Amino acid sequence: MVSPLVALTPKVQSAIAAALGDDFREADPVLRPSQFADVQVNAALALAKKVGMPPREVASKIVDALELDGVCDKVEVSGPGFINLTFTDAWLASLLQEVEADERTGVALQPAQNIPIDYSAPNVAKEMHVGHLRTTVVGDSLARTLEHLGHHVIRQNHIGDWGTPFGMLIEHLLDVGRESEEADLLVSDPNAFYQAARVKFDTADKADPPGSAGDFHVRARTRVVRLQAGDPETLKLWNGLVDLSKIYFNKIYSMLGITLTDDDLAGESTYNDALAGICAELEEKGIATVSDGALCVFLDGYTGREGKPVPLIIRKSDGGYNYGTSDLATIKHRVEDLKADRVLYVIGAPQSLHLNMVWDTARKAGWLPDDIEVVHVQIGNVLGDDRKILKTRSGKPLRLMALLEEAVEKAQAVIDETRPELDDATRATIARQIGIGAVKYADLSVAHDSEYVFDLDRMVALTGNTGPYLQYVVARIRSIFRQAGHDPAVQHATLLVREPHERALAMHLLDFGDVVAEVGATYEPHRLAGYLFELAQTFSAFYENCPVLKADRDEVRESRLTLCALVFRVMTTGLDLLGLESPDQM
Ligand code: ARG
Repeated sequence: MVSPLVALTPKVQSAIAAALGDDFREADPVLRPSQFADVQVNAALALAKKVGMPPREVASKIVDALELDGVCDKVEVSGPGFINLTFTDAWLASLLQEVEADERTGVALQPAQNIPIDYSAPNVAKEMHVGHLRTTVVGDSLARTLEHLGHHVIRQNHIGDWGTPFGMLIEHLLDVGRESEEADLLVSDPNAFYQAARVKFDTADKADPPGSAGDFHVRARTRVVRLQAGDPETLKLWNGLVDLSKIYFNKIYSMLGITLTDDDLAGESTYNDALAGICAELEEKGIATVSDGALCVFLDGYTGREGKPVPLIIRKSDGGYNYGTSDLATIKHRVEDLKADRVLYVIGAPQSLHLNMVWDTARKAGWLPDDIEVVHVQIGNVLGDDRKILKTRSGKPLRLMALLEEAVEKAQAVIDETRPELDDATRATIARQIGIGAVKYADLSVAHDSEYVFDLDRMVALTGNTGPYLQYVVARIRSIFRQAGHDPAVQHATLLVREPHERALAMHLLDFGDVVAEVGATYEPHRLAGYLFELAQTFSAFYENCPVLKADRDEVRESRLTLCALVFRVMTTGLDLLGLESPDQM
């Protein structure tokens, strides 16, 4: 199952060898899409110097040696030495027929690797922000895509569930009671809960004896010590707090259609027992040294202002461990226990320095062999109209659930207007699918490391490069099949690829497998988004120009219906890899 360019490559390579000699058997034929034909061979220009002939002459020698009977019906040398190739309709049709018969629609299975993916990673008792939303959406799409390519993906949700604030959070939860409205805030508005605890903590007077106004401060500090010492009662309280946050995370995941479950949780706390050993081993190996009371790793190439070395601090002077220490534990665990072949960290771009220091330390310690690929999939900022990090109008941090609800409301307004005849429940389902799809697509259609401005009205529009526009193509094809009286899944016929719009659609459909493989290799879901957007446009042009149900001959009608069914399969599969649902109708 191959795209035309891949199928053509060995044929052009043999022609180059026949024309220029065996030394050139491995030469890159430089195949590119062409404006004037189906594909362009640019090798002659690249090789002319080496063989000491003018490029046009090289090109015509290659053309003479090309054996493309049945594959191309037009072969021309043009310009300074390009070779333009036009495929025969029959060859294109035969390639497409293979994809049609393939239940994986051209996506080749790869040799399975173990791939832990670290993504989402919200913090307990805190609101998820739009940055968390983006790592969640991008990470989930990468997990789906790598799984589809045949890999064993191990989702790792590194939630922030440990650290000094847990003393005050636990005490606050004890004060208000687990069954109280305040405790419910952990599920509905976690920042409000956190703030209340913080205010109490900050206003308590440290000097006050227990029982006085300052009591809270003392209790919070004692609680942290007990938590770190593993006091069973404290651990139980802590678990109760984390459980409430899990309800909140799962509410967001379920609203968004994210594949993370509680089994994927591997928060900071899970590494507690490993941290002392990590520090000891690094100290023994002479990689970490004590500086100003803190245990630090100094690495070559990490310097700050005035060339001062920047250390990775792994144990603070008070004996506490750091974010860096637990990330050393993550890489060790993923390599040693999860037997990773590749590891992805889908995390905010500003954490690049942190990750690189962690990985370099792990390499030095022998925990991260060179043949294991570790990748920081950098997540860029999401901005408001003012081009600053997105906030609410009042300047407060955004409540993610409120934002998602607003997206669904906007989609509801769109669908109420376009499909008033549908019943309420159907319209509500569609509104949820396209409202959420719109938000996710906005994160996925731009490069994951670029910044973009969050604009709900643009995202839910049915036109332009939006999620709903792609979903609309699926709904439209379903409606064609409703008229035809059967399901797209059972539509199979001989494909005829003749009209320019049929050819364009065929060429595009043939690329699907390569694009999915590319996303798996580059970790860039926006390539798939861009591909699907072009597919939607190519399909619309085909549908406007080539009658399907009203085609004048039966075999043409069947062929075109089969093309529609294939677009349907590629589009629904592609949307699913992005994590978007495909509405029945729109
Ligand atoms: N909880 C962190 C945050 O909210 C992200 C953790 C990312 N994962 C990791 N292994 N460091 O910024």
